[in-house]
Amino acid sequence: MRISVIGAGEVGLSLARGLAGAGHSVVLGSRDPSKPAAIELMRLFPGSVRVTGYRDAVEAGELVVLAVPGRLVVDVAEEIGAPLFAGKTVIDPTNPAVVDGDAVSSAFGTDDSAAEALQRALPDASVVKAFSQIEAALMTSPGPEERRPLRIAGDDEDARKLVADLAASFGWKVRDLGPLTRSRALERSFIEWLAGRKREDASS
Ligand SMILES: NC(=O)c1ccc[n+]([C@@H]2O[C@H](COP(=O)([O-])OP(=O)(O)OC[C@H]3O[C@@H](n4cnc5c(N)ncnc54)[C@H](OP(=O)(O)O)[C@@H]3O)[C@@H](O)[C@H]2O)c1
Repeated sequence: MRISVIGAGEVGLSLARGLAGAGHSVVLGSRDPSKPAAIELMRLFPGSVRVTGYRDAVEAGELVVLAVPGRLVVDVAEEIGAPLFAGKTVIDPTNPAVVDGDAVSSAFGTDDSAAEALQRALPDASVVKAFSQIEAALMTSPGPEERRPLRIAGDDEDARKLVADLAASFGWKVRDLGPLTRSRALERSFIEWLAGRKREDASS
């Protein structure tokens, strides 16, 4: 499959490497396509990984992963331009946590989620929340001991199936949660986990 990965950070680089290693054709979008880590991937997977700016990368893929900070995912998509996403499945692996001192909250409040806001911004694409609860390094290599299922949510059944099949191809057991509103629980669980970790740090 031709897959666009937007953002050459921890998640983007890990996914790009794993997807290319599995034989997919990856276009990695970066604000700085000369980033050494991205160039290194292109060298490791000649012909399978290409690095470009965000717009060219989105245009190239059938499936797009927005591996950018969660609080900014809607802004990044809008800046790229909604028409470029039309007809594509868009994976949102983000956690929109905002940290303010000891407090952790979602940039999208309690009655919304990054994934739903992204879907509203990209009405002609099909957003699927996936991979947000998995460490970057494990996303395409869950390992034989992995017992957690990979949870996905999205309003389009075909798009959910595409993402579920992709995750299953890496060995994940997939739990399909159904509609995109279920992203709220996924995003909330990360925020609660992060808040708990901050409390532990503060008390130690
Ligand atoms: N790290 C994990 O293990 C993990 C696991 C699950 C989910 N997530 C979620 O996945 C998302 C990405 O995480 P990450 O760890 O890959 O983050 P990261 O290492 O900080 O990378 C995010 C990338 O987003 C791009 N970006 C675009 N606009 C940006 C801006 N204004 N400021 C900073 N970066 C910007 C940058 O790529 P370019 O400079 O190349 O354009 C940057 O490298 C987050 O929402 C995170 O919560 C992370």
